[in-house]
Amino acid sequence: MSTNVLIMPGSLRLGSYNRMLASEIMRLIAVSDAVVSRVDLSDYPLPIYDGDFETEAGVPENAKLLAQRIAAQDALLIVSPEYNASIPPLLKNTIDWVSRVRKVDDRPVQPFKGLVVGLAAASPGRFGGLRGLEAVRIVMRALGADVITQQCLVSNAATGFDESGRLTDDASRSNLESLCDKLLDTARSLSRHG
Ligand SMILES: Cc1cc2nc3c(=O)[nH]c(=O)nc-3n(C[C@H](O)[C@H](O)[C@H](O)COP(=O)(O)O)c2cc1C
Repeated sequence: MSTNVLIMPGSLRLGSYNRMLASEIMRLIAVSDAVVSRVDLSDYPLPIYDGDFETEAGVPENAKLLAQRIAAQDALLIVSPEYNASIPPLLKNTIDWVSRVRKVDDRPVQPFKGLVVGLAAASPGRFGGLRGLEAVRIVMRALGADVITQQCLVSNAATGFDESGRLTDDASRSNLESLCDKLLDTARSLSRHG
């Protein structure tokens, strides 16, 4: 059975470093035997979470669709910027809504439970988004995901990619390769889909 991997960039910005990093990850995983796809969060627009909204209107369809898509994966790779030492609101709001999905078509779903999760970040700063990933790690663990220890940080991202969006630094590339290898190995051994 094939291993399904979803890559989720936490930025929608045109020219986003994290989207460039996600593209590098796509290229790396595409040459493995895994089935890799990428989610663009602009395809799943969601209101800012509000308990009253949920009580009145229920969980939005986009959260259910994304929950179903995530539930079909063996692994998720989150590629996220750091905002004020934490998770950007787009990513946190999406995760919060998806965590509210309990059932789709009357069938129970737990999109994050037992999901193997890898983390990567790019930042124009010196620390590469380290604190942001720590925050993402706490949230994903709380939701029952198996977050692997290895992660990839691309610091000084303004010079970290060439004109075609490829990583310029061998150390970052090698770190990214070993993150992808570890993610796939872990996903194969812990596969949720038998
Ligand atoms: C509200 C806000 C807060 C930010 N805080 C941090 C930060 O704490 N650490 C950091 O390294 N970069 C920070 N940045 C800079 C982002 O890393 C930078 O905008 C980056 O390019 C965003 O990722 P993207 O290129 O994938 O869109 C912040 C940016 C914004 C807009």
